[in-house]
Amino acid sequence: MKHEKFHYRTLEDVKAKCQELGVELPFAKDTKALAQSLKLGSFTIPNRVGIAPMEGADSTEDGRPSNYTERRYTNEAIGGSGIIWYEAISLAEEGRSSKTQLLMNEHTLDDFKRMNERVKEAGLKANGFEPFLVMQSNHSGRYSNPGNRPAPMIAQRNSWLESFRPADDSCIVSDDYLKRMEESFGDSARLAKMAGFDAVDIKSCHGYLFQEVIAAYDRPGEYGGCYENRSKLLKNSIRAAKQYEDDKFLVTARIGIYDGYPAECRGFGQAPDGSMDLTEPKRLVRELHDELGIGFIDITMGNPYATTHVTRPFDAGKYPPDEHPFEGLSRMIHGIGEVKAACPEMIIYGSAPTYLREFSDLYAAGAVEQGLCDGLLFGRMSFADPDFANEIVKNGRIDPKRVCLTCGKCGDLIRAHKPTGCVIRDSSTFMPFYREFMDEKKSLPANFRG
Ligand SMILES: Cc1cc2nc3c(=O)[nH]c(=O)nc-3n(C[C@H](O)[C@H](O)[C@H](O)COP(=O)(O)O)c2cc1C
Repeated sequence: MKHEKFHYRTLEDVKAKCQELGVELPFAKDTKALAQSLKLGSFTIPNRVGIAPMEGADSTEDGRPSNYTERRYTNEAIGGSGIIWYEAISLAEEGRSSKTQLLMNEHTLDDFKRMNERVKEAGLKANGFEPFLVMQSNHSGRYSNPGNRPAPMIAQRNSWLESFRPADDSCIVSDDYLKRMEESFGDSARLAKMAGFDAVDIKSCHGYLFQEVIAAYDRPGEYGGCYENRSKLLKNSIRAAKQYEDDKFLVTARIGIYDGYPAECRGFGQAPDGSMDLTEPKRLVRELHDELGIGFIDITMGNPYATTHVTRPFDAGKYPPDEHPFEGLSRMIHGIGEVKAACPEMIIYGSAPTYLREFSDLYAAGAVEQGLCDGLLFGRMSFADPDFANEIVKNGRIDPKRVCLTCGKCGDLIRAHKPTGCVIRDSSTFMPFYREFMDEKKSLPANFRG
């Protein structure tokens, strides 16, 4: 298989290709649906477009936001997104994805607080409203890399994932460790609130620790085997975080509903034969709403280290997928729609509109109009064009000259633990880091999908 390049000049071309492939993507006639406000608890979010969490690998070594971090979030606030879902922030040194991943603790808290004040102020000054800021709490689990040295912490063995990144039995975390994580993720709500975030995300997606546990079918003990055990870590952490919730601070979660692994190493949202089966994700989302009182979530899919094309359909990446990117988009948006239909009361943000470039705005508006989700978080697009929200909401359409080309270079930078952004549209800042990466590339193993 070769990489499929995006070569569609008009929306009609896109629709014709979809028809040929037998997939349906939602496209609206205009973007008015995205200019509507949205209620999250007592907050009113002025529009339906937001920034997806995008790790920048640009913290100081002790995990504080750097000038690069602040520049990124300030630009996004000026760009007019109603919600900025901050990147994965580690709660523990051993669970960091790199030595430049943001780390939240008592020592770094004030730096986040100062940054958040400036980010909100910038949004208010530029657009007349403060963006809603979400902190994404994470533990990198299998992909932990503190000090830039792999130190996997896994829920159970997975031979397929380990063909890309080795691990052994000694990497399996204990039940006691997971119990401590429940407290730590609960406490992250307190820290997030003190740092001026409006919500905390107890992240459960993309192959990190919580997503591993929810798919730990073969793990013995309290956190493995049956659904009740596998969902315990996420639910107990949310319960612990909930004690800090009030009308000024909410708890949410980014949920991965389908991992896309081979059958013998199946992940969450997969039947024993490996096919997509959303029975458990739908049950989970319903329980998060009815039993835990969660009012809004984001939904995503895949594991960016192993099934990258499922998380973010691309023009160029580490491997050519065996499907057309439109098939990936269709799986994503209709999977999200299936969960939304099963729990219509839950406000659901969808993910991964960027592949569609200058048509991503009509796609996002179509998804909202058709009730597949309530809003869309834009990932790679936010690196390429942090102003995309204002272009859509104020001018009616995204600027085609500034869109992301899904070239994969931001993915290369994050894997190389270098400050990450758009090498094409912000080349004066990020091309030097990309050149460094190219020079170092020769030393990476051939099967590396990290
Ligand atoms: C460089 C890079 C960093 C990312 N960092 C995060 C992250 O910190 N947390 C997360 O949940 N997803 C992360 N993602 C995934 C994005 O949030 C998003 O789901 C994905 O890019 C698909 O959206 P898009 O098609 O709009 O780019 C990252 C993706 C990229 C390319």
